[in-house]
Amino acid sequence: MQQLLYMEGIDKNFPGVRALKSVSLDIRPGEVHALIGENGAGKSTLMKILSGAYKKDAGRIFWQGQEVEIDSTTRAAELGISIIYQELNQMPNLSVAENLFVGRERRKNRFLLDHKRTLEEAQVFTRRVGLDVDVRTLCSELSIAQRQMVEVAKALSYNARLIIMDEPTSSLTDRETDILMDLIRKLKDEGVSIVFISHKLNEVFAIADRVTVLRDGELAGCVETKDCDEETLIRMMVGRELTDLFPKKEVPIGDVTLSVEGLNAGKAVQNVSFTVRAGEILGFAGLVGAGRSETMRALFGIDRMDSGKIWVDGKVLSGHQPTEAIEAGLGFVPEDRKLQGLILGMTVRENTTLAAMEETKVNHMVNRKKEVEITQEYVDRLGIRTPGVEQKAMNLSGGNQQKVVIAKWLATDPKVLILDEPTRGIDVGAKKEIHLLMGEMTARGVAVVMISSELPEVLGMSDRIIVMHEGSVRGELSREEATQERVMELIFSTKV
Ligand SMILES: Nc1ncnc2c1ncn2[C@@H]1O[C@H](COP(=O)(O)OP(=O)(O)OP(=O)(O)O)[C@@H](O)[C@H]1O
Ligand SMILES: [Mg+2]
Repeated sequence: MQQLLYMEGIDKNFPGVRALKSVSLDIRPGEVHALIGENGAGKSTLMKILSGAYKKDAGRIFWQGQEVEIDSTTRAAELGISIIYQELNQMPNLSVAENLFVGRERRKNRFLLDHKRTLEEAQVFTRRVGLDVDVRTLCSELSIAQRQMVEVAKALSYNARLIIMDEPTSSLTDRETDILMDLIRKLKDEGVSIVFISHKLNEVFAIADRVTVLRDGELAGCVETKDCDEETLIRMMVGRELTDLFPKKEVPIGDVTLSVEGLNAGKAVQNVSFTVRAGEILGFAGLVGAGRSETMRALFGIDRMDSGKIWVDGKVLSGHQPTEAIEAGLGFVPEDRKLQGLILGMTVRENTTLAAMEETKVNHMVNRKKEVEITQEYVDRLGIRTPGVEQKAMNLSGGNQQKVVIAKWLATDPKVLILDEPTRGIDVGAKKEIHLLMGEMTARGVAVVMISSELPEVLGMSDRIIVMHEGSVRGELSREEATQERVMELIFSTKV
């Protein structure tokens, strides 16, 4: 079969990191090709080289049989290679149409933009991807899923033959994911090839023809999806068997640690009440947008709450200041870790120990050695891929940055730890390690609140499950009574 793309023997080094070692990848026309591997395996780096954002140290790239040099993103676009980054690269204050043609505005002449043509052409491409919005809408008003569609439309407007999607589904609801999958199938039918990066193997099996697996910057193999199963792919990624995906630890459950009564915050949180006990894992299930994150943000004091009562260990919390929440013994791993959890310019050590100040101090003095020790422990356990604890957080891969934020809170000893989507974007090995750490925390008497959009994770890890929908609590299930069906029933039950 003719190749669309062949990358051969690609090397890439960063200071102290061999990110890619002689990696090869071939893509066929009209193929959906998944690229998988643990956090830091080199997936994004390989794709940034292909799209002209990074320069390779060695190796060759062949495009439709011809050797090419891709030294800029413009060159990649000319060839027909488009990349859709995890953090969408859009100007929120421009309209859909303006975003589509940024840098190549449709003009009447040197001085005048051709608005009519811009709108008309934009419509052609938004229709092709099935995006049903007025092209004059500002991008800031669109959902993440819609903004992704704008990026796909943009790729098509460049006549892309290959579209790279770097973890496109990580912030989408199940329904939005289905819509994206349909769009990918449609593009494939039109002969466009897709590189699809994801940590969710069910998606890989649903959509990909072939899978390339990277491990530690090296090629672990390339297989046809129909010839393999999840275990095979996990073994290729991790290099070992992984059993027992939800290692739930049974620990004695103590007294109520956090209690929330009648919490209201805007439309998103309506009269939410719940309690969680020492040693307990309380899972929050629901669709994306059910109000789970908003509930936690309000009680932690990040967002304004309108009314409600919060107690930690019997003491009232005003809920107006994160510092007050932290002092009372709450820890919070937010959903959007890049924006809310991590200081990119600080090192892995500084980020990890930021919230654990007390533990790392000896006689009220910051103790560097202690900090390094604690950080190193989490780097090892969570497999944070970094040349050292003094690496700046911005140089880590997306998933490894997330691990640092999680380590930061695991390193503190909170009374209650709230985890919002703790394993999103995290590879399978570290996912299990995070679950084990949650178990260790409950054994020490910490109360854990976990929000997850992955129902198997909620069912596998929680002692009790609260189901939210459209801002309010729809019901509560014990570990014994909870099943996928029961949760869905509660979500779609009419409000009482
Ligand atoms: N600009 C950079 N400076 C230094 N090191 C970097 C840089 N970009 C990537 N790296 C390192 O290269 C390695 C590969 O990172 P990459 O982002 O390609 O991983 P990934 O497979 O995409 O992981 P994830 O699943 O976490 O997104 C990592 O160890 C990362 O820390
Ligand atoms: Mg990545």
